[in-house]
Formats: sequence, C-alpha cells, structure tokens
Amino acid sequence: MRKAVIPVAGLGTRFLPATKATPKEMLPVVDKPAIQYVVEEAVRAGLRDVLMITGRNKRPLEDHFDRVPFIEQTLEAKGDHQKLAAVREASSLADIHFVRQGDPKGLGHAVLRARSHVGDEPFAVLLGDDLIHEEDEVLATMTRVQEETGGSVVALMEVSPEEISAYGCADVVSVGSGDYVKVQGLVEKPEPGSAPSNLAVIGRYVLHPRIFDILEDTPPGRGGEIQLTDALQELAASQGEGAGVYGVIFRGRRFDTGDKLSYIKAVITIALERPELGDSLRDWLDDVKAPAL
Ligand code: UTP
Repeated sequence: MRKAVIPVAGLGTRFLPATKATPKEMLPVVDKPAIQYVVEEAVRAGLRDVLMITGRNKRPLEDHFDRVPFIEQTLEAKGDHQKLAAVREASSLADIHFVRQGDPKGLGHAVLRARSHVGDEPFAVLLGDDLIHEEDEVLATMTRVQEETGGSVVALMEVSPEEISAYGCADVVSVGSGDYVKVQGLVEKPEPGSAPSNLAVIGRYVLHPRIFDILEDTPPGRGGEIQLTDALQELAASQGEGAGVYGVIFRGRRFDTGDKLSYIKAVITIALERPELGDSLRDWLDDVKAPAL
C-alpha cells in the first residue's frame, strides 16, 4: 500500500468562529498545524503518496505544504538553520496532491473523489482532524490486517455510553486468536441507549478499492450526507473479492482537533513533552490546579 487519502473538506462548524476563514486542520498544535501531524503519521506508515480532498477556504493547506522561497532565503541569510529545517520539513515530507470535493456532501462523497487517483489498490484514509500520538501506532497494524483478510479495516476505540452517539458504532465478533475483530454491522451516530457496542469508529481506515463501487450507489444517509459508514456496512455484509470489514482496537492517545476540549488536550499533551516547554507548563498547570491562597 502506498497511498493515503486525507479528507479535509468539512466545514468545521464546531470550532467557529476560529474556522470562519481558517481551516480547522491549520489550527496549531504547539507549533505545527494539526494536519502536519496527520501527514507525518502517514509517512511513518510508508505512505508517501498523499491525496487531500479539499474544499473552499482550504488554500492555506496547499500553501503549508509548498515551498516558501522568501522565508527560506531570509532564514538562510540569518543563518537560522533550525527554523529553516522546520520550514522546509512540511514541503519535503511527502508527495502531496489535492482534489476539491465541490459540495461537501459527506465523508463517503469525499472518499469517492479519490477514486481516479487511487485506482484499483488498497489505500488508507486518515481524517485530517484526528490526531494520533506518534508513539501510539495503529496504521501499520491495520495494513497488516488488510493484507491478512483481504477486506477493509477500521480503527475502533472504546468510549463511554454517553459518547458513543457522537461516532459511528461497530457491532463486532471475535475471530479467535487474531489481534483484530470482525465487524458485523455499523451504525452512524446511534441514538443514546440503542448502540450495539461501546466501540467507536475513529478516523483511520484501510480500505479495499471495492468501496468505490459501493459509494457510487450509496444514497444520502444520516444528516442528508453520503456516509462512509453506510458503504462500510454494505461491504461488511457482502461476499466475494474485497468483502468483509475488520476492526483493530486502538488503545492509545487520540485527539479530535475539531472539538474544542479535545484540541486543548492535544496542545497540552504535546507541549508537556517538549523539552523547551514541558517543565514550565507543568509548573503552571500545578498552580492552576492548586492556586495559592
Ligand atoms: P466532521 O464530522 O468532523 O465534520 O467530518 P466537519 O464538517 O469537518 O466538522 P464540524 O462537525 O462541522 O465541526 C469528519 C471528516 O470528514 C471530512 C472532514 O474534513 C473531517 O476530516 N469531511 C466531512 C469531508 O471531507 N467532506 C464532507 O463533506 C464532510
């Protein structure tokens, strides 16, 4: 597998007004935009061919992964090699392509826009607002499970009963000794109390290209959007080549940078690990927790 698709065409309404003129994927997590962590994760998994599905207002994403000769020359003249390397990093990470979604008609519709670029091979989908901690790998395991099963693979995470109705939810059965489960059914954002499990689908997928045929015929579902979950549900119930959906249960650190609280947690977690920031931030957090009387 060589290709990663990163949908970034969503409107980001949960983060308004910050996302009125700036894509939510460009919000900084310490000193890099959230999207850069996602591209770095794809590259760590060996996926250097990245296609972003973009939309209106998403130009800053293209600019971020491009060269900026003026800034580079200025830093070079100053001899600031550290900042120069940081600026160049994003533009040399991967081979990044862009296609516009047109109307944001849902995640399934966004993934379908990748069809001609991806062709007839398995590919990964990484949601641009899902940040997975770099020490907590999941894509390599998912890729192995895809190769073993020949189907499609979703990443699942245990969440509380109150949280499950914000996610796609998976009904799963065990498959013996493997480190994955078989997905029997999927429901997008189930009503509280009616969820088949506490396993939420998070923003990492390794998909068989058969998903494209299914998406072509998937009607709008929940919220009037073409849902990737609905297409996966059909794939789970189908037979033949590329059939079957499997789940890898992720137990690491994952942040939804499109959600205000989760975004703040991402910033604090990553800042605490930075040598130049960690100690001072930890001291300050201790003071905030226990203010001096
Ligand atoms: P979200 O459910 O987070 O929706 O999309 P959103 O519009 O981006 O954000 P809110 O809920 O309004 O705050 C999940 C992922 O699917 C992409 C988004 O960019 C995000 O990565 N997406 C969603 C598209 O690319 N196109 C769409 O039509 C919808």
